Amino acid sequence: METMEQRLVSTWSNVNSSVPPSYVQPLESRPGKVISPSSRAIPLIDLGGHDRAHTIIHILNASQEYGFFQVVNHGVSKDLMDEALNIFKEFHAMAPKEKVNECSKDPNGINCKLYTSSENYRKDAIQYWKDTLTHPCPPSGEYMEYWPQKPPKYREVVGKYTQELNKLGLKILEMLCEGLGLNKGYFCGELSENPVILVHHYPPCPDPSLTLGLAKHRDPNIITILLQDQEVHGLQVLKDDQWIPVEPIPNAFVVNIGLILQIITNGKLLGAEHRVVTNSKSARTSIAYFIYPSFSKIIEPAKELVDEISPPIYKSMSFGEFRKKFYDKGPKIEQVLKS
Ligand code: OGA
Ligand code: NI
Repeated sequence: METMEQRLVSTWSNVNSSVPPSYVQPLESRPGKVISPSSRAIPLIDLGGHDRAHTIIHILNASQEYGFFQVVNHGVSKDLMDEALNIFKEFHAMAPKEKVNECSKDPNGINCKLYTSSENYRKDAIQYWKDTLTHPCPPSGEYMEYWPQKPPKYREVVGKYTQELNKLGLKILEMLCEGLGLNKGYFCGELSENPVILVHHYPPCPDPSLTLGLAKHRDPNIITILLQDQEVHGLQVLKDDQWIPVEPIPNAFVVNIGLILQIITNGKLLGAEHRVVTNSKSARTSIAYFIYPSFSKIIEPAKELVDEISPPIYKSMSFGEFRKKFYDKGPKIEQVLKS
């Protein structure tokens, strides 16, 4: 039996000059053709603008049309963004054994994980070219005792970073509420109290045309706030059957609508499909901050957004049930959610 240390892509990929067969995607899933970024880009939104009503319209349009946008002037300092990205890069650069040890502090193995490929390594027919560190990061500080302690400043930096992201998330959700006609605090409390951080590391791949870093998917959350490597491309969004690259923009965050927000807005906002491709030159690191509800919270279209003319198109279920269905059904989930 292979250990996690041995399986991590970063453990073996620098000594392999070719892509192992178990990482070669079937023809229909390979990266293929991508349109040039200059002809189309996801919207860029300045959160520091003075015309709040205008900013809200911009966010709402982007969330309806693309399910994706980038934000600048968002209030998180450049220093903190750099510090966070650097500490996560340092983490993934540590010795395999050390990484595994630092993620083994929870005796139940739930509240901090290091995995490779998707979370379901054994279930994946074909593996994905990435390693991921993930743990909950609520503003209360709960679960922090399970976080890595190496690099030495990990808890300090990641604690600060996730506090700021919690604020930014609520700010964006509040603007979405205003645009949608929901009360301002609709997402405060149970709908957003379980944030989780996922730190992906995509090592260079000898043949990017054969592999994927992350399969085509929608995020199973309310929203995602992603900080991507400032130099290395990889994220792509599916729009009108075409893959659009998400250009790294200095000091910007990428925001995307998750499937749960699609349900709550009764399909008004779009949980867009996206994926990550690999490249042969540089490793890429990305930090995804996932806003999740509590497990018992009932997920359903908001009463304010349904009526006789637009009845609920999704069933009600607890977030716990939703999550189980998401992992059991994979891409076929949407049929299960429809009422
Ligand atoms: C995700 C995701 C994109 C990236 O974590 O769900 O889509 O660039 N990540 O790593
Ligand atoms: Ni995603």
